[in-house]
Amino acid sequence: MKNHCKSNLIALLLGAGLWLAIPLAAGAASPAQPKGQALFERNCSVCHGKDGRADTPVSGLLSPRPRNFTDPVEMGRVTVDRIYRAIKEGRPGTAMAPWVDVLSETEIGDLIDYIHSLGRSGQLSGEKLSFEIGRRIYSKDCASCHGATGRADTEIAKILKPSPADLSDPIKMARLNDGRLYLAIFRGRPGTSMGGWREILAPTEIIDLMRYVSTLAAPLPAGTTPVDVDVRVGEQIYQEYCSACHGERGNGQTPLGRQLDPHPRDFTSIAVRAPGDDERLTNSITHGRSGTAMAPWEGVLTKEDIRRVIVYIRQRFTKTAAN
Ligand code: HEC
Ligand code: HEC
Ligand code: HEC
Repeated sequence: MKNHCKSNLIALLLGAGLWLAIPLAAGAASPAQPKGQALFERNCSVCHGKDGRADTPVSGLLSPRPRNFTDPVEMGRVTVDRIYRAIKEGRPGTAMAPWVDVLSETEIGDLIDYIHSLGRSGQLSGEKLSFEIGRRIYSKDCASCHGATGRADTEIAKILKPSPADLSDPIKMARLNDGRLYLAIFRGRPGTSMGGWREILAPTEIIDLMRYVSTLAAPLPAGTTPVDVDVRVGEQIYQEYCSACHGERGNGQTPLGRQLDPHPRDFTSIAVRAPGDDERLTNSITHGRSGTAMAPWEGVLTKEDIRRVIVYIRQRFTKTAAN
């Protein structure tokens, strides 16, 4: 019985040529918005287009242009309250005039319902919407340096020092936990060409962007285990922060290490390799060793970073010693 009604309604809408404005799913679930539609066509369509797409000749001349009411991404963060205020008060400095003296509250309500119904056809779920918004922000604000696919292979990237991070590198990305990623976008990377976006992007937009950025990482080679990832991330950390003193071979025989008293710990020695001693190593790295050149790394490295560098030290230097 229900189905029968539904298809009748659809047939009716199709016959009336209303199907363009009222998507099938929404049209079937909620009544049409004839009053709002009539008001819209009379007062608004010259700029916003009959179907709300804002692809009219007039809209092409406007700056800023009206947004596309049927695009779920563009409308994703437009609340009812915002629509209400825009209609009532207008948008100062744009062609969108206030309608408070022209339309009654009821008419504004009908228009809101109508505009709302336009965006439903392709309505996206929260996560998909967030991803799409993130994708658009990325191509507008980030792709110039980081490249369309995150590889940082743009012309600009070639001349920047340091060069932009390769966001497609799964190992690099494995190190970027949410906190670090958020901060990188929020306040930028001081001392590099990467400025902060806190004045430009709202926190929700940064989250949308993070959702998108985290999909740029290329998949790990087949057969890569979580431990392999730990080792490779640990290796990057070790090379960046530890090898100047502890050395490529882990024995502390570096120009810097040789000058230090006490010497950096020799990771190839049995004592360091003793299993079950992760707690001591974690402690030394986190809090440093007072009175020595071994500084505390808390605040620079996350707990996860420290865990991974230990996995690397154990794997890598145990092998060296066995050879
Ligand atoms: C003369 C052209 C014009 C007419 C007529 C017009 N608008 Fe607009 N409208 C605009 C422009 C341009 C913007 C974009 C303003 C901005 O970006 O801040 C806009 C923005 C809006 C927004 C805000 C959406 C957002 O970005 O948050 C709503 C809602 C809206 N219009 C509804 C209407 C309704 C309803 C009518 C008819 C009663 C109408 N407009 C008539 C040009 C027009
Ligand atoms: C002007 C060029 C430029 C633009 C635009 C830019 N970045 Fe960057 N980005 C860089 C550079 C250079 C680095 C490397 C900084 C470093 O080595 O610490 C970087 C590093 C990063 C990192 C790694 C941070 C870390 O902690 O290692 C992330 C993530 C990132 N950018 C994301 C973004 C996002 C998202 C956008 C868009 C909002 C963006 N970038 C826009 C140049 C840019
Ligand atoms: C500036 C030189 C220097 C740097 C850089 C450095 N270390 Fe050290 N490290 C030392 C010295 C010196 C000691 C020996 C301290 C002692 O004898 O108590 C030491 C000791 C250690 C120990 C103690 C081992 C044990 O038996 O408790 C660990 C673990 C360690 N370092 C890991 C690291 C890691 C991981 C990094 C990089 C994040 C790093 N170190 C960076 C100089 C350095």
